Amino acid sequence: MCGIVGYIGERSCAEILLDGLSKLEYRGYDSAGISVLTEEGIRTVKRRGRLQNLRGAVETAKLTGNCGIGHTRWATHGEPSDRNSHPHGTGRLSLVHNGIIENYLGIREMLERRGYVFESETDTEAAAKLIDFCYKGDPLAALREALPVLRGSYAFSVIFADYPGKIFAVRRDSPLIVGLSEEGNFTASDIPAILRYTRRYLLLDTDEIAVVERERVTVFDVAGNRVEKEVKTADFDMGAAEKGGYPHFMLKEIHEQPKALRDTIQPRLEDGLPRFSELPDDFFDGITKIYIVACGTAMHAGLVGRCAIERYAGIPVEVDLASEFRYREPLLDPEHHLFVCITQSGETADSLAALRLAKARGVRTLSVVNVLGSTISRESDQVLYTYAGPEIAVASTKAYSVQLAVMYLLALRLALLRKGISEEEVRRLTAELCRMPEVVEQVLAREDEIHHIAAACQNAHDLFFIGRGLDYALSQEGSLKLKEISYIHSEAYAAGELKHGTISLVTDGVPVFALATQDALYEKMIGNIKEVKARGAQVVLLHREKAADVGKIADLSFALPQMEELFCPIPGVTVLQLFAYYCSLLRGCDVDKPRNLAKSVTVE
Ligand code: F6R
Repeated sequence: MCGIVGYIGERSCAEILLDGLSKLEYRGYDSAGISVLTEEGIRTVKRRGRLQNLRGAVETAKLTGNCGIGHTRWATHGEPSDRNSHPHGTGRLSLVHNGIIENYLGIREMLERRGYVFESETDTEAAAKLIDFCYKGDPLAALREALPVLRGSYAFSVIFADYPGKIFAVRRDSPLIVGLSEEGNFTASDIPAILRYTRRYLLLDTDEIAVVERERVTVFDVAGNRVEKEVKTADFDMGAAEKGGYPHFMLKEIHEQPKALRDTIQPRLEDGLPRFSELPDDFFDGITKIYIVACGTAMHAGLVGRCAIERYAGIPVEVDLASEFRYREPLLDPEHHLFVCITQSGETADSLAALRLAKARGVRTLSVVNVLGSTISRESDQVLYTYAGPEIAVASTKAYSVQLAVMYLLALRLALLRKGISEEEVRRLTAELCRMPEVVEQVLAREDEIHHIAAACQNAHDLFFIGRGLDYALSQEGSLKLKEISYIHSEAYAAGELKHGTISLVTDGVPVFALATQDALYEKMIGNIKEVKARGAQVVLLHREKAADVGKIADLSFALPQMEELFCPIPGVTVLQLFAYYCSLLRGCDVDKPRNLAKSVTVE
């Protein structure tokens, strides 16, 4: 989604803005632009397409000044074009925006009636011109008058021609931080944009307005009172936001999974048993049902969580897509239900709305979040952080693995509390979970085998993933990963469901990736594999070592090491991530920045 960066300091800002934008590329974008306060007033350059287009135009324009704002746009209102790119404004001000202004049409009409002329199709231009309309020489007063009129979500950075030493920043439901350094101060959507210059930053709360100057930052609340903000320090360094010798962030992040798993599991162990010291002891008391709500990959982690929690803790679980949950009027019981939100970024608009709905209904909320201090982590009653470190590639990999780890720990913790299984069994399973980083390392050491499988499937138009139980949950993640980065059309099917319709699509040579890691379901899976094989499918089988008849039923296969089958999705997903990665690479796709996708989906 859109990325914002602003700089005011001693240095010339154009290069700093371009550098900051390049660090936000991972969020996904289709155009970019910057505005700089120069001696001739505000000058703006914007271009459709990749940042190099903008870079060329900025060099030609020779923008000199040390206060400016920049933006990478992920199109929502209006096609990607120079005209629709941000910044937007008037001669008096320039503004960049992340979010959606829902009532922009009404605002636009009102302003057009008063003589404003619009140049773009964007919602953002309506916000910029509204602030201009309210501006009578005092930027803070203009913002305070304009903000209550806006409906929707926003993070803004605004510069005013009359105030060359200041950037004004404000947010509601879209992320924005203020970076602090000796050589100037910043506004940014995310820490990587400023990490080269500083690790110190402030988090703005909803509708707080920051006035960012060279040597100071002043923050005001909605009523105009000054607010003291805590200075935070980013806990990752430049290395974490760079490729570290890998050709792509995605590959680097796949390889970081063993460490991410260790970092997430180890702090949650006490005497060989799972324990969440960050939660109050009575947090799970009286829970009779759990709603796990999330989007995309995070929702897929929830599906695995459901299998584990229902099987070991005996608590019914519903897994919902946040975008559905928020509008389906869920039957929530404040006393006995627990709402669990899973989110890497902690900023996903639908997940946040679902969380707010659950809170408004008085239900206990727990979020599993990767980004420290993100909106969802701040608004949830309790948080379990995953310690994956920053995930830059658009396709989520290590964040999913650690979400699985937390789901397993949660299932085992609840099982222990419920006394659903013996302490000895929980101890055995926990020890097995602790072995997963090592098992993932073993899979990573066999990357060549997965490359070989990808080479055999790279020309497919359609590919099916099939599985049962945990394997079906994992299939859904494998299929999403393949689609998003290789653009091969793919579907995940419950293996037993295929014959109820979709098998008509399985014809000669169509690859079917069959996941069969669960003993009790293995024979059933063989039956389903035979069905697709009989229709000419090229079968790739993911199984555990020593599975029967692999050579007879599969064209290609990958054996996971012997291990507790409950945890197969952890090394299993490593195989599927690498499969998607190599398919994408072999097809010449942009692995880290797949078309149309954004890293952090901050609009509904
Ligand atoms: C896919 C992917 C997305 C995210 C989804 C939720 O690779 O990354 O499906 O999982 O947008 O994002 P978070 O976890 O940030 O809420």
